[in-house]
Amino acid sequence: MDLPVFHLDFSGNRILIGIIAILHVFINHPMAVGAMPLITLMEWMGKRTGDRRWDELAYKILTVCFIVTTSVGALTGVGIWFATSLVNPYAIGSLIHIFYWAWFSEWIVFCIEVILILLYYLLWKKWEGPLKNRHIILGATLSVSSWLTMAIITAILAYMMDIGNWRLGNGLFDAILNPLYLPQLAFRTPLAMTTAGFFAMFLTYFFLKDNPEFRSSVSRWISIWTLAWLPFCLAAGDWYWRMIPSSLTQNLNVAVATQIFITHYTLIIISLYSFVVIALVVLLWAILKPLRLPRYALLIPFLVGILTLGYFERVREFLRKPYIIADYMYANGIRVEDYALLNQRGILPYAVYAHEKIVTDQNKIQAGKDVFMISCTRCHTTNGVNGILAKFRNLYGQGAWDAETMALYIRGMHNARPFMPPFPGNDAELDALVQYILSLRQYPIPLKGAQTAGAVPPSAFLNAKSGADSRS
Ligand code: HEC
Repeated sequence: MDLPVFHLDFSGNRILIGIIAILHVFINHPMAVGAMPLITLMEWMGKRTGDRRWDELAYKILTVCFIVTTSVGALTGVGIWFATSLVNPYAIGSLIHIFYWAWFSEWIVFCIEVILILLYYLLWKKWEGPLKNRHIILGATLSVSSWLTMAIITAILAYMMDIGNWRLGNGLFDAILNPLYLPQLAFRTPLAMTTAGFFAMFLTYFFLKDNPEFRSSVSRWISIWTLAWLPFCLAAGDWYWRMIPSSLTQNLNVAVATQIFITHYTLIIISLYSFVVIALVVLLWAILKPLRLPRYALLIPFLVGILTLGYFERVREFLRKPYIIADYMYANGIRVEDYALLNQRGILPYAVYAHEKIVTDQNKIQAGKDVFMISCTRCHTTNGVNGILAKFRNLYGQGAWDAETMALYIRGMHNARPFMPPFPGNDAELDALVQYILSLRQYPIPLKGAQTAGAVPPSAFLNAKSGADSRS
């Protein structure tokens, strides 16, 4: 609790990370990790068959991937770490301590990847004829380096879900070799290849508009590529799922459906499955009767891919709750081992930028606001997305809310809803929090994060305090 709290009171902070991260995965998996080997293979097809059209199509697909990955892809990649360090600096801080060298190597590999994609793209027309083989090897090297960046980052994502034996050794390799690393990597790899197939089909719709005969051979070829990866995707998905600790999978229904739609959980699961089946039908059709496949059908698998990829990331993020780093740090940025102390002495004395350090009768509302800021705003807003007033209204209705019942609920909220961390503060702070929520109900003033409200630097605060102390 050493930093001022960034907070978006209308949309919530999670949406900021969610949008950037999901956009990044949409680009990274199909257009980088999966597309580079697919394009290289397509280029090789062109060389082997001597049919220039393969080469031209591969180049067109690469043009799209090149532009998107080096602009939006690269920016959202960096953006994820900006956004997450704003929203949860303590989690990112802990991860940097552990994964410093992994991140460092990832950065180097990423730079190499950018240089390679520049060379691969810019030399396409130059390394023709006898140099073609060399160009294809360049593509293969690029494919490996794209995969490597994903392979490194996946270690961090998997660690956040299950830290495994890291507690025993505390070393980088203990962290990397966490129980979920290989299953998650084994799943993401074919997932990237499959979705790259979907994406290439999608582009074929536009690039081979007036060429039904070549379009059908291409869509058949891409479908075979995609279907070849699909069994690996399913098998690794199953492995991954089995390795996720059961304490996490209990969140599955809320992760998939949110609390409001929880009753539609089965419906949502069935719809997701049916979408995948529809994509499968398109692939099989493209293989068996390619000439009869209507052109618009080429768009369907990609839409299914986007939907399932987005869902997969949402569910993965949600399952981890109430933790941001499994069993080590809660989503509010407070370490599990600090709870005993904080429950007793309170969080405010340790929150460098809190306005109040102790709760008194006079400062209850302001202190409660500080407590809310620290312990609830990583997931709740006041009146916006997942707004705290709406949540309590769901529980206690439109009439009067009883302060004691609310306090009792918050003390046990981690039992009532296991995806919420326990309340970190002491009893006086709990009381202040309830008073703040009640006052908020009366005067629903939006809660400004430090980025708009500003923050009092702790030294100024301490000086003012010691000045006041010496005067008294
Ligand atoms: C890790 C994220 C997280 C944190 C931190 C968190 N909550 Fe929640 N809370 C949620 C989610 C998610 C829901 C359910 C959203 C939905 O309706 O799907 C929820 C629901 C609630 C509900 C309604 C429960 C119900 O049974 O309907 C209340 C009340 C609540 N939170 C209070 C709080 C308070 C007070 C704090 C701070 C002390 C807090 N929460 C901290 C994530 C969090």
